[in-house]
Amino acid sequence: MRQQIIAGNWKMNKTTAQAVEFARELKQSIDNNVPVEVVICPPFTALAPLAEELKGSGIALGAQNMHWEDQGAFTGEISAPMLKELGCRYVILGHSERRQYFGETDAGVNKKVKAALEHGLIPIVCVGETLEQREAGVTEQTVAGQLKGALAGLEQEQVAGLVIAYEPVWAIGTGRTASDQDAQQVNNFIRKVIAEEYGAAAAEAVRIQYGGSVKPANARGLLSQPDIDGALVGGASLKVEDFKGIIDAIG
Ligand code: 13P
Repeated sequence: MRQQIIAGNWKMNKTTAQAVEFARELKQSIDNNVPVEVVICPPFTALAPLAEELKGSGIALGAQNMHWEDQGAFTGEISAPMLKELGCRYVILGHSERRQYFGETDAGVNKKVKAALEHGLIPIVCVGETLEQREAGVTEQTVAGQLKGALAGLEQEQVAGLVIAYEPVWAIGTGRTASDQDAQQVNNFIRKVIAEEYGAAAAEAVRIQYGGSVKPANARGLLSQPDIDGALVGGASLKVEDFKGIIDAIG
């Protein structure tokens, strides 16, 4: 049985003080017995104070990006050992905003995935098609290409432990969510690609989230689909009430 995972991707939002206030409120408002893993991915600057604030809460911490090298002359970058030291359990890799604005490629994402695993971080690997690609009927081809590129050279057991996030680019920050059926269809397709490339056991174990305008009002329908194992939430993860509403939609 796969455990659902709800992760908040704060993107470039919240000062450290705002982040700590959010964590304090969230801790108090969520029920520790809910059968779901909750993750917050704040900006790098808030990781250390949030690690402190979330100690013993059961809420995990994730980063939004990292470099594939452990250290060196890479101005402005952060490495896997640095994230691990701060208490991160997860790291989002290959988000479409990083691909679009910062030139990330499947090959680069692959190097990051390998570095994250080497240091005991769990990658949340993002894939998803643009509106043009969907309209041109190449959604599956696009997603399969991103997936194979990002996971190239991994062992079956490593793939089994990953989190994949299917985030159609046209649904991110637009208020336009994929229908439950469309999201389920692509998540199921992703599981099939994993089965073909890495075997049935890895496909059965790997957790596949949906992301793109998830909010309390549409969470229940999406999260009840058989191949949707959680959500990667942007805008609605910035308010405790909304984020909690999505967590409560499980079960
Ligand atoms: P929104 O929930 O704001 O659409 O963002 C989704 C996303 O990009 C999460 O990584």
